[in-house]
Amino acid sequence: MSFENILIDIQGHIGLITINRPKKLNALNKATIEELHEAFKNLEEDPDVRVIIITGAGEKAFVAGADIAEFANFSVYEGSQLAAKGQELLFNLIENLSTPVIAAINGFALGGGLELAMACHFRVASDHARMGLPETSLGVIPGYGGTQRLPQLVGKGRAMEMILTAGMIGTEQALMSGLINHMVAQEQLIPFCEKIAGKIINNSPMAISSAIASINAGFGSNGYRKEIEAFGECFGTEDFKEGTTAFLEKRKADFPGE
Ligand code: COA
Repeated sequence: MSFENILIDIQGHIGLITINRPKKLNALNKATIEELHEAFKNLEEDPDVRVIIITGAGEKAFVAGADIAEFANFSVYEGSQLAAKGQELLFNLIENLSTPVIAAINGFALGGGLELAMACHFRVASDHARMGLPETSLGVIPGYGGTQRLPQLVGKGRAMEMILTAGMIGTEQALMSGLINHMVAQEQLIPFCEKIAGKIINNSPMAISSAIASINAGFGSNGYRKEIEAFGECFGTEDFKEGTTAFLEKRKADFPGE
């Protein structure tokens, strides 16, 4: 497997995926999403890989979101396709893998980055990580499953507050609210995830795959379809143009209100 935007390392039944665009804070552009799709499928098919860990290159970011520069000019149709394809290619794929996936959050996990971490089976974060869904500050909503998976993990009220304020939370608050399972020092992040992976590897792969499918079955909903439609509709609005343009021009967005 050879990729431009990600690194793969397989050792002792553990597949480590590192998203490697540190200059863009590992933002998820189309090419990275496609490469991640291939990598997850290949690792799932490799019988030697029993746990997958995903992290970001560098100390600053896990993933700072979907690549804003790439979608700022999208139409309503392109916006809804972006969400639908991303959910199918990557986010739903991860959630439904038989191989457990641990997100090792090594820094900013924002927007699509937090959505990626939430699609994983569980999350461990380093003590300086920051998490949030800032989409409403860009005139859009989370489109990679965030409106569904965040309430599943932290409850409706906390999810509402995070999405409506577009704010970020630190690792302690994320731990308290159930968004992450463990908080560790940065240098311990991967070794700690490997330790948990070691416990999983002792167990029956058949039973693990069956447990994942059963747990997921309790969370089915048509909310993901509603999210895709609503996400696409945002792309036809003045607020979306203002929000994304303001980010790219490195200024604060000015939303006039209705
Ligand atoms: N999409 C595209 N590019 C991004 C990005 C994203 N989601 N997040 C960061 N980048 C780029 C920046 O444009 C910058 O590129 P440049 O050096 O070519 O100008 C580079 O990554 C470094 O980011 P910068 O903003 O300069 O770092 P910072 O330390 O000042 O701020 C953040 C860090 C994470 C607070 C800030 O990058 C941010 O708010 N990112 C967007 C988060 C977001 O809204 N994500 C949701 C997208 S749906």
